[in-house]
Amino acid sequence: MTVAEIFETMDYGPAPESSAEAMAWIDGHGGRFGLFIDGAFTDPGSSFDTRNPATGKTLAQVTQATSEDVTAAVTAARKAQPGWEKLGGPGRARILYALARIIQKQSRLFAVLESLDSGKPIREARDIDVSLVARHFYYHAGMAQLMEDELPGARALGVCGQVIPWNFPLLMLAWKVAPALAMGNTVVLKPAEWTPLTALAFADLAREAGLPKGVLNIVTGDGAVGEAVVAADVDKVAFTGSTEVGKAIRRATAGSGKALTLELGGKSPFIVFDDADLDSAVEGIVDAIWFNGGQVCCAGSRLIVQEGIAEDFHERLRTRMAKLRVGDPLDKCIDMGAIVDPVQRDRIAAMVDGTTGQVHRGDAPEGCFYPPTLITGLDPADPLMQDEIFGPVLVGTTFRTPAEAVSLANNTRYGLAATVWTENVNLALDIAPKLASGIVWVNGTNMMDAAAGFGGVRESGFGREGGWEGLRAYVKGPEGKALKPVAPVAAPKEAKVTGLDRTAKLYVGGKQARPDGGYSRAVWSPRGALLGHVGLANRKDLRNAVEAARGAGAWSKTTGHQRAQILYYMGENLSARAGEFAARISDMTGATAKQAETEVAASVDRLFTWAAWADKYDGRAKGVPIRGVALAMNEPVGVIGQFAPDEMPLLGLISVIAPAMAMGNRTVTVASTAYPLAATDFYQVLETSDVPGGVVNILTGDATELAAQMGGHMDVDAVWSFSSSDISATIEAESAHNLKRTWVNNGRARDWSVTDAHTFLAQATEVKTVWIPYGEG
Ligand code: NAI
Repeated sequence: MTVAEIFETMDYGPAPESSAEAMAWIDGHGGRFGLFIDGAFTDPGSSFDTRNPATGKTLAQVTQATSEDVTAAVTAARKAQPGWEKLGGPGRARILYALARIIQKQSRLFAVLESLDSGKPIREARDIDVSLVARHFYYHAGMAQLMEDELPGARALGVCGQVIPWNFPLLMLAWKVAPALAMGNTVVLKPAEWTPLTALAFADLAREAGLPKGVLNIVTGDGAVGEAVVAADVDKVAFTGSTEVGKAIRRATAGSGKALTLELGGKSPFIVFDDADLDSAVEGIVDAIWFNGGQVCCAGSRLIVQEGIAEDFHERLRTRMAKLRVGDPLDKCIDMGAIVDPVQRDRIAAMVDGTTGQVHRGDAPEGCFYPPTLITGLDPADPLMQDEIFGPVLVGTTFRTPAEAVSLANNTRYGLAATVWTENVNLALDIAPKLASGIVWVNGTNMMDAAAGFGGVRESGFGREGGWEGLRAYVKGPEGKALKPVAPVAAPKEAKVTGLDRTAKLYVGGKQARPDGGYSRAVWSPRGALLGHVGLANRKDLRNAVEAARGAGAWSKTTGHQRAQILYYMGENLSARAGEFAARISDMTGATAKQAETEVAASVDRLFTWAAWADKYDGRAKGVPIRGVALAMNEPVGVIGQFAPDEMPLLGLISVIAPAMAMGNRTVTVASTAYPLAATDFYQVLETSDVPGGVVNILTGDATELAAQMGGHMDVDAVWSFSSSDISATIEAESAHNLKRTWVNNGRARDWSVTDAHTFLAQATEVKTVWIPYGEG
């Protein structure tokens, strides 16, 4: 096209970016790459092609790592870790800063390489991916600098195995590597098989930053290599990718003691209210679903428009779609590039073909491209409304009232992000907390920053990346001693049975309930006296308790002030019966009177501490580089299943129930198997302290028998276990059903004499990041 012709048609002329430098870097490595282990590239092994999806041409050959290679990488990382941690925060900060500078200095090389390998438009790779990568390293250089002052006592986890996908290859590397290195961990990272080049380039250039050898290792290859990284001797696994693989990793790591964060798929709603600025909402959609061809975990892929404006809005959207330019990713004028691989393009086509909805398509060239697509008129249960398509396909429906918008938005197994478009700030801020998602964007979309937590709830995974909340996934506190299982006191040869036999019932929905199975167990004192009987809860009792907890959702909406009042009242009522509770502890465990009194006093104090926290765990307003704020709001997790510890039957019980209550959660708490009577006495305190029915439900029975069902229950949002029985593996494996959060002791003791408030606060809350840009024009 000549300039004269362009002048005539006013069409965009091509503005190609040169690939020369990127190809020269590939050629410099002979077009073949080994793995990056212990500071150097290995000789290339059995290899596979990585291609440019826009042209189908091979860019380079990359090694398929063997399990021995993965072991070698982990060994190098293990060897390097103590020295890297010992270097100290400020020492690591210098190197992370140098990495950020290298990213900036080589930004064009990284952007072009990323575009070539993944098919994403150079405009996006240059302006979004690479600049966010640099920002991430700068931000975490700062975190390394501040670690010793701001996170006293925090230690690195050790070696982190990290597996990332192909949609943001370098950005996902930064999200994983920067916080890990900042906190003193070393890394073995596996990039996706379709997009390994920028990770290799990063490792190559990181040497210039003075990164000691072994601190960062890159192993390339397919899912089998990912599996080997997960199975290797690593202390933490961090994964971003499909929900299916996330579940497999949850099962594979169950009971191993490896820390785990999962950032998985989504089907994020994009809600447009009738008072929205419709033209800006249309531009928002372009960003939400056609950014990176919709191959974005947080893509706004479900359009939910208020009925009165739906026709007008869809018309504006179709008009805009006609102007989207799809084509050569290296052309700076195109809006959408290639799909990452023909396999993925065919996957998208297979999902969309045969739909019963009304399909509207834009244009796309032949080859590994897919046109921008809008599908309307679908039933909310349609697979296209429920399943992640991971392509440039937007599905849409309509709503009438805000309540209906919320219920449509939440009608998904995912919970990563949501967008709300309205000019009414009251409405936006009323809707944001009601959406089941880790992120809410108001009048904007796909806003991300290193300072703001990113991550989801439900089947979108758990854990946050970015911000102070993201660091938690890369540090640990002191480790407790191994716990010895505590068995119930066996029946004595000669039973001393005095007084009336009392059988304590279960406590479900604010009422005492007989166990469904009709079984109970005698509780004996070590001195041979029969103390009473407790019911043995079964699956049905657990189901009833979860249902009661679900039904007590109003608790999560009460104010912190109100929750504090109730926790104080519980403390007061427990204090009034201190003598009785101390005698019970003594009878059950054989503790001296003094020890038992101390436990009761500490329990009263713990209730007061959590009453104090109920209205003080403030969120944050994050300093993100936009005109606006990103609010980090601490929300309740929901229904938390709990297995109370055996060591301190009353203090332990209160230490797990009270923080959950303080943060607005409801609990299904299984009392200590060995010493259950402190819990059954305690529900009398609940009854007299105005605790609404269903907020705390108490079951007695055998923790090992209830572990699998609690772990797998679809209506439980998190499970905590401090049981002395070995149930951590069962809970973690079963939790893969709905990817609930788990916090298990892995057979390690905890010091119940300390509150450890910040750990409990973090476990009892989900951070929701709400982005609110502001300003006129
Ligand atoms: P995937 O989840 O299989 O791949 C992601 C990464 O995990 C890659 O590095 C892969 O090699 C590795 N991997 C695969 N199997 C593994 C295993 N068993 N253990 C450990 N690592 C393993 O995703 P895939 O097949 O590339 O895409 C399939 C679908 O997943 C997409 O259509 C999309 O719906 C979704 N997806 C979602 C992403 C997100 O960011 N939420 C990213 C990539 C894919």
